[in-house]
Amino acid sequence: MQMTAALSRGPESPFTLETVQIDDPRPDEILVRIVATGLCHTDLFTKSLLPQTVGACLFGHEGAGIVEAVGSEITHIVPGHHVLLSVRSCGVCRQCIDGHRAYCERSHQLNSAGVRTDGSSPIHQNGAPIRAAYFGQSSFAQYAITTVDNTVVIDPAVNLAVVAPLGCGFQTGAGAVLNMLRPEPDSTFVVFGAGSVGFAAILAARTAGVTTIVAVDPVAERRKLAEEFGAVTIDPATDNIVDAVRAATDGGSAHSLDTTGIGAVINQGVASLRARGTLAVVGLGAREVPLNIADIMLNGKTVRGCIEGDSDVTTFIPRLVELFNAGSFPIDRLVTPYAFSDINQAVADQTSGKVIKPVLLW
Ligand SMILES: NC(=O)c1ccc[n+]([C@@H]2O[C@H](COP(=O)([O-])OP(=O)(O)OC[C@H]3O[C@@H](n4cnc5c(N)ncnc54)[C@H](O)[C@@H]3O)[C@@H](O)[C@H]2O)c1
Ligand SMILES: [Zn+2]
Ligand SMILES: [Zn+2]
Repeated sequence: MQMTAALSRGPESPFTLETVQIDDPRPDEILVRIVATGLCHTDLFTKSLLPQTVGACLFGHEGAGIVEAVGSEITHIVPGHHVLLSVRSCGVCRQCIDGHRAYCERSHQLNSAGVRTDGSSPIHQNGAPIRAAYFGQSSFAQYAITTVDNTVVIDPAVNLAVVAPLGCGFQTGAGAVLNMLRPEPDSTFVVFGAGSVGFAAILAARTAGVTTIVAVDPVAERRKLAEEFGAVTIDPATDNIVDAVRAATDGGSAHSLDTTGIGAVINQGVASLRARGTLAVVGLGAREVPLNIADIMLNGKTVRGCIEGDSDVTTFIPRLVELFNAGSFPIDRLVTPYAFSDINQAVADQTSGKVIKPVLLW
């Protein structure tokens, strides 16, 4: 079938809307008509890493849409179902069996190899394969080929344009709090970087009843919104951040999250923990960061990585949709809609900090 897709033709090139061909679903695949796709920094990070020589790439990994057709082996998902698309996992490796599908041992092959597991691409242009199958979806397009492990059926009454980012960014922040850090109501939670991931974390901490929530971010509008959500805020430009965090958390934070990926900020996060506190790191940025091991050791601190909120997408995403429906996880305050044809404007506005989470609509 012919469709329009927003292709990347190299790290420096803007996205271009082009006509491509998508396969019919195989017996174990699902064809989804995309209604909305969130734009995640990870799309742009991956785009920046892949050299021009790999040819055209189709990214997009926060897809939301309506099932158009299913393969003969698919039983519990049927045409017409409203679905959110998320990260793939194999379901049979040690990590998947242990309930930590985000760390699936086949994650690279399933999510970022650019092809199906048999080496084929579901997307072509005039007979030539396009690098696709990104997070098992490549949803910067009118249709996507997906699989049961990353396709989550949701309440059809929910606005897909609002919940699309649950597939990655929002579940990452919310899951880092609810699945990994698990703060007690009387404890403290500090987020460094109040972007889409950080705000989802703030809202999740609120649902967990955490009374002291602190947001550190240089953008005044973001601090203002964080305050509306009940957080105390700190501007890293004007304050001594470590002292300010300690002051706001009665001597140091028990649970912190870094979404910036900036080495200096990660160190502020470690330094401002109380004894036995934990800093979760999710930001893509510095690959190597020198850490104060003496402080970590002497104070029993933990620095932990976290992918996709350590979530099982088929249970965690519906739980977040329920919280949104109940009014306690107001992610509608975080999204800004764009027509798909304005994808490059959405990239510019996300990069400049003008909007928190752009969602592209067909
Ligand atoms: N680990 C995962 O599974 C996963 C999943 C999704 C996204 N990510 C990554 O998480 C990161 C955050 O994503 P996002 O969509 O929230 O990005 P974002 O750009 O919206 O948020 C980052 C925030 O950090 C703030 N910031 C910049 N400098 C700062 C400083 N010195 N101190 C404090 N805050 C500062 C920015 O103002 C911004 O609000 C990205 O790197 C993204 O690629 C990781
Ligand atoms: Zn697995
Ligand atoms: Zn993402």
